[in-house]
Amino acid sequence: MRFFLAPLADFTDAPFRRMCFEGGADLTYTEMVSAAALAHGNSPTRHLMETMAGEGPVACQIFGATESDVAIAAQEVEKVKDRFVELNLNAGCPMTRITRSGAGAKLIEDPEKVFRLLKAIRENTSLPVTLKTRLGPHPGDVKIFDLLNAAEKAGAKGVAVHARFTSQMHGGPLDLELLSEVVARSPLPVTGNGSVRTSKDLDAMAATGVKSVMIGRGALSDPGIFAVLKGRENPWSRFDAVRSHLKYILEFREYLLKKFPGDHIRSADAFASVKMHTHLFRYFNALPGAAKLRAKLNTIRTLREIETTIAEFFK
Ligand SMILES: Cc1cc2nc3c(=O)[nH]c(=O)nc-3n(C[C@H](O)[C@H](O)[C@H](O)COP(=O)(O)O)c2cc1C
Repeated sequence: MRFFLAPLADFTDAPFRRMCFEGGADLTYTEMVSAAALAHGNSPTRHLMETMAGEGPVACQIFGATESDVAIAAQEVEKVKDRFVELNLNAGCPMTRITRSGAGAKLIEDPEKVFRLLKAIRENTSLPVTLKTRLGPHPGDVKIFDLLNAAEKAGAKGVAVHARFTSQMHGGPLDLELLSEVVARSPLPVTGNGSVRTSKDLDAMAATGVKSVMIGRGALSDPGIFAVLKGRENPWSRFDAVRSHLKYILEFREYLLKKFPGDHIRSADAFASVKMHTHLFRYFNALPGAAKLRAKLNTIRTLREIETTIAEFFK
């Protein structure tokens, strides 16, 4: 079984992907990158496509709704193709801000459009192209078989399937029975995705026949989950994880600063505080005193204070 870190908007930036790579992930995904923003030359969007030293194989994920946008985005990714091993199209995100424009999960309703978008991407990159999608809009409307055909016809190399319907957002039961059928009938390799956190979850996913599994939320508080599910020791204590992650966050900031001298990059204090809110808090989940620590971390604004507060917590 191969283990992938799922794309997670606001989370799977370079420092976190590096944590997951060191934590046993075989492949990681960028956050979804807006094809429209790339097509309009939006610079902060480009930061999402940066990788850092120490990372393993990375796939770039884009979302978009028009052939022209995804074609230009694919050309942009092609310019930095040495960073990536794969270019993935998001056809699964159910958030209104994405579906409103016809992108993400909205595409599930229109496999023919998925074909056209994948084809446009394929024609503009030399990277292997893949699709990430769901079973269908809702349990009464299974679209995955049409989507697989569209992907194959467009020359895609694989499909990651979140074993839920759009109507379920990110909760509710997985349909692993249907996923088994998908794996059996798919002309392309299928990666299984959805709520894998424990070896029991993994066994259930593996029973569908998938040879690779994608993990999202389970990695957020525990980037060593990949190693653990591979039967190895977790490379980090929570303390080491927090320390390494903070170090990588600051390293990445330095890198961005040098690479994009004309862009606004937050101060080290602000950068660390923002990332602290999205990521580092989660390492304390369920530990005694976590609520108090979170309250304290909410009030501090400097890197120095963050470091001393964390050190005191783990003393
Ligand atoms: C906070 C959050 C952000 C997400 N961002 C993306 C994204 O950028 N692209 C994407 O294809 N899916 C995205 N997803 C969906 C995940 O990749 C994954 O399919 C879903 O969370 C189910 O896997 P899990 O149960 O292991 O988390 C996101 C999910 C969450 C919870």
